[in-house]
Amino acid sequence: MTALEKAKALISDDMQAVDQLIGQRLSSDVVLINQLGGYIVNSGGKRLRPQLVLLAAGALDYQGQKHQLIAAIIEFIHTATLLHDDVVDASEMRRGQKTANALWGNEASVLVGDFLYSRAFEMMVEADSMRIMEILAHATNTIAEGEVLQLLNCNDPDTTEARYLEVIHSKTAKLFQAATQIGAVLTDSDQATEQAMADYGMHLGTAFQLIDDVLDYSATSKELGKNIGDDLAEGKPTLPLIYAMNNGSSEQTAIIRDAIENSGRDNMPAIIEAIESTGAIAYTASCARKEADKAIKALAKITNTPYREALLALAEFSVQRSF
Ligand code: IPE
Ligand code: IPE
Ligand code: MG
Ligand code: MG
Repeated sequence: MTALEKAKALISDDMQAVDQLIGQRLSSDVVLINQLGGYIVNSGGKRLRPQLVLLAAGALDYQGQKHQLIAAIIEFIHTATLLHDDVVDASEMRRGQKTANALWGNEASVLVGDFLYSRAFEMMVEADSMRIMEILAHATNTIAEGEVLQLLNCNDPDTTEARYLEVIHSKTAKLFQAATQIGAVLTDSDQATEQAMADYGMHLGTAFQLIDDVLDYSATSKELGKNIGDDLAEGKPTLPLIYAMNNGSSEQTAIIRDAIENSGRDNMPAIIEAIESTGAIAYTASCARKEADKAIKALAKITNTPYREALLALAEFSVQRSF
């Protein structure tokens, strides 16, 4: 069994309960919500964020049931962001299938995304904790900020590495952070422990998105389950592009600047060549490695248990993944 499979086995009963909760709480009298919502939640997502809630709570010896509810809430928030994100990014493939917007149109995706967000907030009230409410409300708001900030970076070839990092901290890492931090809140952990879990989640999420941006240039669509080159097609200046632009020949820089400004896959082969020859993939992957190492270090003072081991394995997965 791989470390990742061990991690899953550890929380398989809880995950089953989470999946059940997701199915139950998705239901609505409005047929389209059940159809589209059911399609996306059952389309084979990795369920990484709910796993993080369960593992963080487990690592701190949580004894209650609320972690299942929080895990479902976080997967709903994640799913809502994906529905909206695929509209904004004009993406046609996710999890190896057509996106919801490709099947039902942008309007339906945006509205069902809103349904999922607001259902998540209804469920948050049930958690009956102002502190948890605060963390999740703030995370959701920060994701929206990150997506808007990214929109402003699109078609801007002068986007810096720092501005890119700000985007990925907000749009992706913040929800990972909320997932693991709440594990500590549920267990009434001390401030240092809560901070350690929050830091772990933030670094893990950052590594995860850095690799996502690498895979958009280096994976196969089949393995990743998403179309390759979506970022380029939207003129999205992710780190592989930023690095290649700053370190390529003047010709390479010009091609990349043009692709960012005019959003297009037309020069994809030359751009991939530039990304490879400048070492942009290796550079971005090394940034992800550093983040994963920081995530691992954040857990140094947490008592070693199979749950902690599983969290360490997820940090490794976030940099070694190909899907
Ligand atoms: C996709 O997240 C969005 C990013 C933050 C890159 P995941 O890769 O966790 O998506 P699923 O849920 O497993 O499909
Ligand atoms: C994902 O960003 C972040 C959110 C969904 C908030 P991306 O646009 O890079 O994710 P993919 O590649 O579509 O999954
Ligand atoms: Mg996208
Ligand atoms: Mg992406």
